[in-house]
Amino acid sequence: MKKIITGVKSTGSSMHLGNLMGAVLPFGRTAVGNDAAIFIADLHSLTSVKDGKTLREQTLEVAIEYLAIYGVDTPITIFRQSDIRGITELMWILTNVTPYSLMNRAHSFKDFQQKREQAIADLNYLKWKHDAFSESNFLTKEVLESIDKSIHERTIIIQKLAEDFSENLNMWVFNYPILMAADIIGYDCEAVPVGKDQIQHLEMTRDIVRAFNKTYGQEVFREPEAIIDEAVAALPGIDGRKMSKSYDNFIGIFDDEKILKKRVMSIVSGSEWVDEKKKNPDECNIYNLYRVFATPEQTVALRVKYESENIGFGYGHAKTELLSVLTEYLRPYREAREKLLQNPAFVEAKLAEWAHIMNARLEEKMGVVKEVVGVN
Ligand code: TRP
Repeated sequence: MKKIITGVKSTGSSMHLGNLMGAVLPFGRTAVGNDAAIFIADLHSLTSVKDGKTLREQTLEVAIEYLAIYGVDTPITIFRQSDIRGITELMWILTNVTPYSLMNRAHSFKDFQQKREQAIADLNYLKWKHDAFSESNFLTKEVLESIDKSIHERTIIIQKLAEDFSENLNMWVFNYPILMAADIIGYDCEAVPVGKDQIQHLEMTRDIVRAFNKTYGQEVFREPEAIIDEAVAALPGIDGRKMSKSYDNFIGIFDDEKILKKRVMSIVSGSEWVDEKKKNPDECNIYNLYRVFATPEQTVALRVKYESENIGFGYGHAKTELLSVLTEYLRPYREAREKLLQNPAFVEAKLAEWAHIMNARLEEKMGVVKEVVGVN
């Protein structure tokens, strides 16, 4: 029995098939026999959602979606990050043992900083070249003019980057991984299922644990491990690339039926005509989605159709069959969500129950932490 935790932000994207098959259902399976919790990281979402009403609604929507998938009697503890009062307090305490140099390495910040530094270095070089040779005839007039132009362009780029820096790059960049560490170690969690993009954050969490334990000379926190499920194959999106929100190639689970249909019908396929044999089904996006949601018998039957000639079967038909298995597969989840939407008070009551459990866990840990660091 392990303590497992994961968090999802509520930045406005509703769950899609890739999330469901790649993360949400696998987490449900990992949870069996373990002590598992999933929370909606609304405090982390503050970094990009700057409207209170919107954030509140989106956070509730995510909670409802998870409840719809796992069921209202799920053994998984589903909670809202901001319901746990002590989490930001723990973050503050951790901030005091977290080296600046550690935060400075975060990809999100480093990329930004490197772009700016490179632009400044280029500009300084161009200025030097311009000043060094403008009074001589080592460089032609044309070359000097092109240098002038580059200096001007780069100055604008740097100005833009600086504006972006001051407007969008606030302290969340530094504090984000520290809050994430608090989310994990505050409840003594041992394992964290995450996507590849979060591996660095988990490493930082372990570094923070070591720094704390070393500073106070006690094993107060434990180092969590990341669970990265390599076995879960990425689901293809409607354009054939990995299904993802950022590619806008996803099929949303809870979208309106019309949108669901539109997305399925726009899956990129081969161009063979109805009476032609189709391309290799294993390379077809429709087939590759179909086999995930259909029974083995249905999958074999579709394969036979792909490999037949003169049966009046085209990619449009394959899409219609996919839509029908998908609709069946998703029906219980969609119905469960509809029911929960009708009863937000019930959802809030469930969240309050779970928040109570997690608050108690964190409080117990904070008792030890505060004793060690010497605050009340
Ligand atoms: N940073 C994670 C993401 O962007 C969300 C998150 C916040 C999280 N706290 C966490 C994930 C703790 C796992 C554990 O997806």
